[in-house]
Amino acid sequence: MTTPVNREARRAVVAIDGPAGAGKSTVAKHIASRFGLLNLESGAMYRAFGLKALRAGVDPDDSAGLEKLAIGTGIDLEAGDAGNRVLLDGEDVTALLRDPAVSDAASRVSVFSPIRAWMVRLQQALGARGGVVMEGRDIGTVVFPLADVKIFLDASAEVRGMRRYEQMQPAPEVQPDEVIRDLRARDERDRNRADSPLKAAPDAVLLDSTSMSLEEVIEAAEKIVAGRVGR
Ligand code: DC
Repeated sequence: MTTPVNREARRAVVAIDGPAGAGKSTVAKHIASRFGLLNLESGAMYRAFGLKALRAGVDPDDSAGLEKLAIGTGIDLEAGDAGNRVLLDGEDVTALLRDPAVSDAASRVSVFSPIRAWMVRLQQALGARGGVVMEGRDIGTVVFPLADVKIFLDASAEVRGMRRYEQMQPAPEVQPDEVIRDLRARDERDRNRADSPLKAAPDAVLLDSTSMSLEEVIEAAEKIVAGRVGR
């Protein structure tokens, strides 16, 4: 039986930020179902645009080329029970977004301010009526600085890399060191870009999951949300 949630919780905006592989998606999914919120994964939108750049042969480091490509590009995020569906120019590209080449392109296209400004506008529109849990890198700092609850979920790079590696199995061609190396490279870019770098908002609750089980992290996150927006 699910516990009923109050009206305040149903209109709440919950921001979950943190580096790749910290467990944001899993935590966000549970928070959404526990508190009756829409679960919106902002990274999927950068991934969709990264995919578009790869398909169009535009270098994901070419700011001017990306700006041109963005004109007329439609990215839509639909929250569903089985996760987000991502529409790129009307095409459902959800199944293509976890490819390592797309992850890398997403991290590259997301350093550019015009691209970020566009994505932030789309994300703010999606969450404008409240009742959402949105996860990403800059949700508590830029997209929803007035969010009711902000959680910054972190873990050591080794632990995050090993979690990602295990999710990717069976994949005999992939080595754990490679996954950890790619993740560190993305971390480096996400944390050091000039516009909206990954960092905890001053009023975020920090949750370090390095030595916690998934169940413990979910329980801790649910307590944080319940403490802020009532049960
Ligand atoms: O959360 P993710 O791994 O799906 O995100 C993919 C990339 O998108 C990530 O490397 C950085 C970027 N991103 C961002 O810059 N801001 C967000 N709010 C979400 C993701």
